[in-house]
This record gives sequence, structure tokens and C-alpha cells, in this order.
Amino acid sequence: MKIVAVNGGPRKNCNTAQLLDSFLNGVREAAPDAEIEVIHLYDYLYTGCKSCFACQLTANRENLGCRVKDSITDLLKDTFHADGIVFASPIYYLNVTAQLRAFWERLLYPGHSPKKIPTAVIYTMNMNEAQEQKFAASPLQIIDMYLTDCFGMPPETIHSYNTFQFNDRPALNEDFRRPVEEKKKHREEQFPKDLQAAFISGKQMVLRIQNL
Ligand SMILES: Cc1cc2nc3c(=O)[nH]c(=O)nc-3n(C[C@H](O)[C@H](O)[C@H](O)COP(=O)(O)O)c2cc1C
Repeated sequence: MKIVAVNGGPRKNCNTAQLLDSFLNGVREAAPDAEIEVIHLYDYLYTGCKSCFACQLTANRENLGCRVKDSITDLLKDTFHADGIVFASPIYYLNVTAQLRAFWERLLYPGHSPKKIPTAVIYTMNMNEAQEQKFAASPLQIIDMYLTDCFGMPPETIHSYNTFQFNDRPALNEDFRRPVEEKKKHREEQFPKDLQAAFISGKQMVLRIQNL
């Protein structure tokens, strides 16, 4: 069983990466032999889809994927042929990061996966849940729709709200118009629960794969 974990955030030790790690620990607990490939998108230089349409101009679209040759060509193949895929991203301007969007353009546009692949998406954000519903519900629903379409089943999603942007400089979190004490309390009480939810979701991905 191969799981590909795509980290769409730039910080390798912060909220998004921690939740992704916890998810992968859940995978490891449920499937100690699972092969896990972690892709940190910010380590690579690449663009989104270039509209060359090479992926569309062939009889057998499904297994060939994006024909643009650059640093992520092989990573796209690894991802498309995995047994399970987990994506993680901080929310930037009410959507996933530009890096993850560019990766998705090239992963999803070439065609549907010939096999069902369980996916999960981990989102971290400064907003609380009500703000997410008000401002970001629609972009995140569209992501669900495209992943479902490509991989044949809806993604599991984990939403971690009210994150601490600066662990080492807590006072700077006040910049985001909420009292730092409120964010600190949320961090101490809720973030461990989010980590646990990610862990459980990792275990569930293994079950979803085994039950296909
Ligand atoms: C450029 C930028 C844009 C952001 N835009 C949003 C946003 O639209 N909504 C939101 O809730 N948080 C936003 N944030 C906050 C991050 O989503 C949040 O702090 C996230 O948990 C950071 O993840 P990390 O700790 O893994 O880097 C933004 C942060 C940055 C740097």
C-alpha cells in the first residue's frame, strides 16, 4: 500500500505539517508496512497547467498524465498511482496555497483515475468555523467536487481553525484581530484534538483502501 502525502504549505514544522505528520502516524499505526512518500511542494520549482493540451490529445488519457517536463513530473505520476493521497494546505486568501492549486491543475486535468483512490485534505486557517462557512465554503466545496470527480470518491476533510501563526512570538498573533488569549486557549485546548482527528483520519484512510 502506497500513500502519498502532499504538503502544500511552506513551513515544514508548523500547523499544517504537524497535522500531516499526525495523519501519517495514523496510517503507520493501521498499516506498519505502508510505503509513505512525503512531497513538500515548496521544495520544487514548477508552474500550473500550461494549456498545451498534450494530455488530452491521445486515445488513452487515463494513465499518461501531464506531459510538461519539470521538477514535479515524476511526483505527479507517483501521486496519481498511489493507493491513498493526503493533501495539506494552509488557507491563503480563502483557498489553498498557489503551489497546491498549481499541482492540482496538473494532477487533475489529464483525466480521471482508472481506480478509486481515497483522498483526504487537511486545511489550517486563522479563521474560525463560522468565518470559514461565510467566506470559504464555496471554494472548499469546489475542491471536494473536483477531487471526487478525479478519484471516484469524496475526500475526507480536516479543518483546523484559529491557528497560531507564530509559535515562538505569541504576541504577534494579536495582529489577526482576535485577542491573543483567545487564540492561546484555542491552541492549548483544540489543537491537540485536531491532531487526534488527523491521526484517526489517517487510520481511516487505510481502512478505506482495504475496503475497496
Ligand atoms: C499569505 C497568507 C494568506 C493567508 N490567508 C488567510 C485566509 O484567507 N484566511 C485564513 O483564515 N487564514 C489565512 N492565513 C493564515 C494561515 O492560513 C494560517 O496561519 C495557517 O494555519 C498557517 O499554516 P502553517 O502554520 O502550517 O504555516 C494566511 C496566511 C498567509 C501567510
